[in-house]
Parts: sequence; structure tokens; C-alpha cells
Amino acid sequence: MANDAFGFQIVDQYYHQYYIEGEWQSPEFKSSSKINIAMSATSLHYGQQVFEGMKAFRRKDGQIQLFRPLENAKRFRMSCRRMMMPEISDDQFMYAVTETVKRNAKFLPEYDLLKSLYIRPFMIGIGHNLGLRPAPAYFFGVFVAPVGMYLKGDSAGKFLIVDDDRAAPNGTGQFKVGGNYGGAIKIQHDARNLGFEDVLFLDPATHTYLDEFGGANIFGIKENTYVTPFSSSILKSITNDTLKILAKDVFGLDVMETKIPLTDIETFDEIGACGTAASVTPIGSLTYQDKTYHISNEIGPITKKLKQLLLDIQYGNIKDDYGFQVYVTL
Ligand SMILES: Cc1ncc(COP(=O)(O)O)c(C=O)c1O
Repeated sequence: MANDAFGFQIVDQYYHQYYIEGEWQSPEFKSSSKINIAMSATSLHYGQQVFEGMKAFRRKDGQIQLFRPLENAKRFRMSCRRMMMPEISDDQFMYAVTETVKRNAKFLPEYDLLKSLYIRPFMIGIGHNLGLRPAPAYFFGVFVAPVGMYLKGDSAGKFLIVDDDRAAPNGTGQFKVGGNYGGAIKIQHDARNLGFEDVLFLDPATHTYLDEFGGANIFGIKENTYVTPFSSSILKSITNDTLKILAKDVFGLDVMETKIPLTDIETFDEIGACGTAASVTPIGSLTYQDKTYHISNEIGPITKKLKQLLLDIQYGNIKDDYGFQVYVTL
């Protein structure tokens, strides 16, 4: 297994596509992830870039599935629009993603609920451009990496609620753009050094409502209700949207999307993090300033059922009635 200098496994094929003079050029698959861009590229100086995060899953019968990929395509377009970047059609997005997965299928391990192939489509502004304006050219790339679980899985860990913000109240929090993440690196790093798994951000306007984790949404369970924040500064998680549907349709829970005051933490029986990387991860405790809210030492019963159902759909153990499962034909 070949790794690059940072320990990432080097895969076989990388998708490269340029947008030049207002037109998408023909895509190419290359064995190198390296690209050549101008020092003055807008992506390097002004953060004109967007990305997506999704996964391919290996079923028991060896086939490969994507999970709701058109939702990623839609969100990618929304992010592009916000950043004044050229939009990509569903067809272009699906071709790029499925072909990249196909050509790297050997890196997706056998059926294993802890393993998957992470897919990272992204777009950056390239070309010589010093002024603060949209780039003259763009690069759309897709690469994949075999991954395990991002957070600790079923063992409910410790998380830190911070007063630092990842996004501004009317900023770019609901888009998947690098600027939301670069500023959070130090906040997450400092929290991990203190022994926390990740940070939970509060709403940036008042710091009184729960917003989301560094790379995942938050949900809570109480009185037969699935509750998740209503906020304009969080990423609209596709996993969270799925859990809302399953909670209602399959488990008969009420679903509430509402502002959740920090002090309401104590009212929840279960709290979880959800996202492509986090899957469904139970939260053991949340610490804010000098107070620690203990939630549970292990995964709660409803969180466990939601997680199992999500995984069974993602890995093709059961057929879903929603069209969430999309095969990659090898
Ligand atoms: C900030 C943030 N929130 C939430 C999520 C979860 O979104 P999704 O379920 O679409 O992966 C992510 C990405 O995984 C994220 O980066």
C-alpha cells in the first residue's frame, strides 16, 4: 500500500477538469493528484473554493452503493452559486463521482460497517488574478480515500461547547466552503489537546442556542421526539435529513427543527452527532465553561436504532423505499 508524505493512501485515479473561458473542458483521469496553478489564484488568497464529502459503501454481495449523491450535487451547486463559481449539472457531478469510484473500486474494502470509501469533489478558483473578484478559470477535481470511522463510534465521548465561531450569523455557514473550516482548525485542535473529541459551536449571533459540531450536525431525543437545530449558520446535513425521515416514518417519532437553548441540553435523554464522516455518534457529555452536562455513558436505544437502520440502508442490507441507494455499476 503506497502512502503519500502525509500518510494518505495513494489511489489509482484522480478526476481533473478545467473551466476555461466560460466552458468546461473534457475531463481527464490521471494517476496524479497534483495540479499546477497560478500563485495568485483566488482559491489560495480569498478562499474561493467549495467542496463536498460523501461515501461509497461495499455491500455484502460485493456491489458498491452511493448514498443520496444527488443531494451532494445540489448542495455543491448551492455552494458554487454563493461563491460565484460555475455550477455543475447533476450529470457532470454524477459522472465525476461514479467514474472516480469505479476506477478506484479496489480500494474499497470488503463489506465492513466500519469501512468505506470517502469521496471528495471540490472546485477551486485558479488562473492569475490579484483583485478581489471571481477567478478567470476553475478546476473541478474528485479524489477518494479509504476511511474508517471519524469519531469514536458507539462509545459516547466528551465534547466541548465553545464560544468561538465557525461562521458568521449571515455568513457562509450553510455552504460547504473551506473558509468555514480553516478558522475552526485551531479551535478543534485545542479542544482535542484537552481530551475532547470535537467541539460544538453555538449560534454565532447570541451564543445561547446549539448550532453544530465541527463536522457534523447535532440531534437530541426526548419524549418520543427527534429534535435538531433550526439555524441559518449550520450546514444542512444530508445524514440529518435522512434521520429525520427515518425517525418519523420508521420509528414513529415526532420531528422538530427548532432553536435549542443551551440550557435545554439537560432535558434530552439522548444526544447524537450525525454526518457523512461521523455517521451517527452518541454524545457522552458536553462541557461548557465550567459546567459539564452528562448525557449517557453509551449509545442510547433510539440513537442505536437510527444508526443501525442508516448503516443497513447505506451498506445495502435492506432495500430502502426512498431511492437513497444508488448503485455504482462496475
Ligand atoms: C460542518 C458540518 N456539518 C454537518 C456535516 C454533515 O453533513 P452530511 O450529513 O451532509 O455529511 C458536515 C459534513 O459531513 C460538516 O462538515
